[in-house]
Amino acid sequence: RTMTTMTMSDTTGVVWRMPPLRRPMPMMLPSLMGSAPPVHPFLPGADLDPATIPDAVFREIIEMANGDTLHLEAGFVRRRIGARSFTMYGFNGQYPGPLIRVPQGSEIVVLFTNAIDLPTTVHWHGVRLDNRYDGVPGVTQDPVEPGESFVYRVRFPDAGLYWYHPHLREDVAQDLGLYGNMVVDSPEPDYLGPVNGEDFLILDDLLVDEGGLFPYGREAAIQTLTGRFGNQLLVNGEPRWETTVRRGEVRRLYLTNVANTRTFNLVLDGARAKLVAADISKFERERFVDNVVLAPAQRYLVDVRYDTPGTYAVMNSIQAIDHFNAKYYPEVDTIGVVTVLDEPVAEDFGTAFETLRENADVIADIDRYRREFARAPDHELELTVRVNGLPSAMVGVMAIDTLFYPPVEWNDAMPMMNYLSTSQNLTWVFRDPQTGKQNRDIEWSFRVGDVAKIRIHNLRKSFHPMQHPIHIHGQRFLVVARDGVPEENLAWKDTVVIPVGATFDILLEASNPGRWMAHCHIAEHLEAGMGMVLTVTEAR
Ligand code: C2O
Ligand code: CU
Repeated sequence: RTMTTMTMSDTTGVVWRMPPLRRPMPMMLPSLMGSAPPVHPFLPGADLDPATIPDAVFREIIEMANGDTLHLEAGFVRRRIGARSFTMYGFNGQYPGPLIRVPQGSEIVVLFTNAIDLPTTVHWHGVRLDNRYDGVPGVTQDPVEPGESFVYRVRFPDAGLYWYHPHLREDVAQDLGLYGNMVVDSPEPDYLGPVNGEDFLILDDLLVDEGGLFPYGREAAIQTLTGRFGNQLLVNGEPRWETTVRRGEVRRLYLTNVANTRTFNLVLDGARAKLVAADISKFERERFVDNVVLAPAQRYLVDVRYDTPGTYAVMNSIQAIDHFNAKYYPEVDTIGVVTVLDEPVAEDFGTAFETLRENADVIADIDRYRREFARAPDHELELTVRVNGLPSAMVGVMAIDTLFYPPVEWNDAMPMMNYLSTSQNLTWVFRDPQTGKQNRDIEWSFRVGDVAKIRIHNLRKSFHPMQHPIHIHGQRFLVVARDGVPEENLAWKDTVVIPVGATFDILLEASNPGRWMAHCHIAEHLEAGMGMVLTVTEAR
């Protein structure tokens, strides 16, 4: 009932095949060999002649002013990744989608057309816009059917780095290339420190094997246990990012993680790195860092300075886990190369770079809320998982295994079991312990001007505990404590990753009326139910 054989295929001849597995294979897996998820395999565009699909081009930067209009189309593209070509999706034929650059306080009109084969929408992640343009099917709008259009009006009240993506079957549509950045510039010239240049790095991954792109589930998402980890890491849609700088040059890196599930740990060899801003604001205080952890949907601004000539790697450096043998092993992938020339940069911002700025504007903004930090929570949320008919062989293996879980699952430690999990046989759960309600049944409402303290527990004792990047639409929040320890250096955020076993307190500022989603940003966990709607009504 819950497993099918490998022969199930879709009408375009896409067939299930074993997911790419690490060798040697864990002992327990043979009982699952030959099985396939209980849905049809699906690869968009498998029936199209590749010769008729345009080659994707690298994204353009579109600077827009208040009132400007952008035509945005989601369509099929051919993408060359390494030595291979794939049929994928792109916004305006580009990879990533166009980078939209606007002044703070502006509003743009986006005439969106759906030219892909799935119903879709566009969500403007992190932007506190009008609720009706938030792009959430079933909450703020109907899906935009293939061939149809929708007009979005997007206003940008907050300076920062944002991104846009579909909000329907993200496990497929976003994974295939539908994502782009938005950067909102403050009018204040000294809002951020001086730099010699800027680089926008979108981190992602893609799952491929000898057959090409690994199929998705047609009727339902697959890989809902840990989410779809790719085996090809991508920066701006390419396997490797390369750049050349002069000695002493200060670059501002705008980092966004758009992967379905992978959390990155970015390490910049040879660079001094300074953490400047998070999702929706600068930090109260800048600080030097050795690495930057980005969960799906999170953004950071990091200023870097290279002062010694040479060639340096940009790496994703993780502690991979082997659940079966209960051990960690280091895994390092080079995703970029920076060449530092032995020529000094023309304008040297070294002194400004070495100065850690304290942002009085951010501190004053947050000061208004500090008295609320230590009070009792208004709401609590537990993160857990429920199984509804997974293969029993799999449940057995998992039971052996649940004693050993890392705070963050950095890699696909159980690809076979993940493969067999769908949004039908597994449900990821937000549970409100005060009412016992789960996911879409939870009803929280706030008024504009309310400040809500929300305590989120990521339960260790569950079938498969895992970190969850929790995103709240349309508002901004502060992470005020982790496991009861107050946070020292805050920034306004829209996405926070809660490690396994951790309890985080966030302070939500209800500022924007409407019905807004809150959910896990692992695409497959959202498909498997992990989301709720919260209502913000106008102030009395
Ligand atoms: Cu980036 Cu609800 O999404
Ligand atoms: Cu999740």
